[in-house]
Amino acid sequence: MYPGSEIYGGLAGAWDYGPLGVELKNNIKNSWWNYFVLERGDMYGMDAAILMNPKVWEVSGHAAGFADPLTECKNCHKRFRADHIGQTVGEQNVWKLPESCPNCGKKDAWTPVRQFNMMFRTFIGPVEDTAAQIYLRPETAQGMFANFTNIVDSFHPKLPFGLAQIGKAFRNEITPKDFIFRSREFEQMEIEYFIKPPKGEEWLADFNKWAEDIKNWLEKIGIKKETVHELDIPESELAHYSKKTIDFEYDFPFGRKELMGFAYRTDFDLKAHNIIYYDEETKEKFIPHVFEPSFGVDRTVLALLCEAYAEDEMNEEKRAFLKFKPNIAPIKAAVFPLLKNKPELVNKAKEVFAEIKKEIRPIIFDDNGNIGKRYRRQDEIGTPFCVTIDFNTLENDTVTVRDRDTGKQERVKIGELVEILKNKFK
Ligand code: GAP
Repeated sequence: MYPGSEIYGGLAGAWDYGPLGVELKNNIKNSWWNYFVLERGDMYGMDAAILMNPKVWEVSGHAAGFADPLTECKNCHKRFRADHIGQTVGEQNVWKLPESCPNCGKKDAWTPVRQFNMMFRTFIGPVEDTAAQIYLRPETAQGMFANFTNIVDSFHPKLPFGLAQIGKAFRNEITPKDFIFRSREFEQMEIEYFIKPPKGEEWLADFNKWAEDIKNWLEKIGIKKETVHELDIPESELAHYSKKTIDFEYDFPFGRKELMGFAYRTDFDLKAHNIIYYDEETKEKFIPHVFEPSFGVDRTVLALLCEAYAEDEMNEEKRAFLKFKPNIAPIKAAVFPLLKNKPELVNKAKEVFAEIKKEIRPIIFDDNGNIGKRYRRQDEIGTPFCVTIDFNTLENDTVTVRDRDTGKQERVKIGELVEILKNKFK
């Protein structure tokens, strides 16, 4: 990943994914979509527009309330989130801030704390007046609530069922920081799972089942269960519409922080949008309740990078490598001719490369530098398997397959190579 607009000094809170980053990110999104949409029988995928009628954000509460408390040091003019450097005392809007500025050390130089709305504003059409003001969505969720009735009318799903979408969200964060952890443009993978209005606590078992599924998926992509911590938000701190919220936190190098959130939002959202569900079986009308698992794509990328990073010693040399699960690794395999200046090795390697590429992608061809260095380059980007064409290949049609984690090589027949590799990705 590179800082966004780096050639012009960057743009705070914007990051660009390069050739490897985009593959890693796509692997995460595809795994999520398979697990939470395609492999289930009760989920519907969708993709709503980023630009929405501003009424959506009035009704959802974002126009009035999607704000962070902002203060500024009058001396150095650095801005801070009051909840990051201080805390509220007594009433919600009375802030106790540190005596001196963490940036310049000036004492008692805070501006009054004010609520800063995080939605980016822009204009639709040619006239830039307030009537034309719209927002970039700060979450994908509202696109799903706004389409609830469309999907019910065209697909007639029975409750419980869910909508899922992956897409960009924008928040004008006061202090974007920690690389891609908190940025101003990011991606979310969200689910709105609709259930019948429950009696008493009967929703709890289903909620817990979802929490298990969330952990199972995180483990499936390579984030170990013991590194994910559930923070059950105490009742007194719950948003007014939430009956239960669990933040799934990860031990990032800069501290234990929210990786994704899972909330039982009651009927708050559909009620706000005035949406009613007609149950064709029971002929009842009611407002469904909602479970909302909300994942950040970029935070998942970052957690996976942290989780995969490993160091060891191989052939008496220190090495750093990325221990991604094979399916998640940006590059699936690399193919090398042992020597660059032997056309018979290079040509054979190109043949093998073309053969593998028909079935497994993306893969890399590399004939640059000594073989040890080529292995290390692949280790560093987490490529799980390296296939080497050597002089034995020319005699008996076999190649070596090297395992990234152990460095061990096995010799296999070219005719069986693709199947052997495919099995390693299962
Ligand atoms: N619809 C609910 C919702 O948006 P949220 O807790 O505000 O809930 C959900 O956001 C997830 O989106 C977070 O857990 C995080 O993974 C990701 N996210 C939120 N703000 C982010 C930011 N500024 N940069 C990167 N990811 C962010």
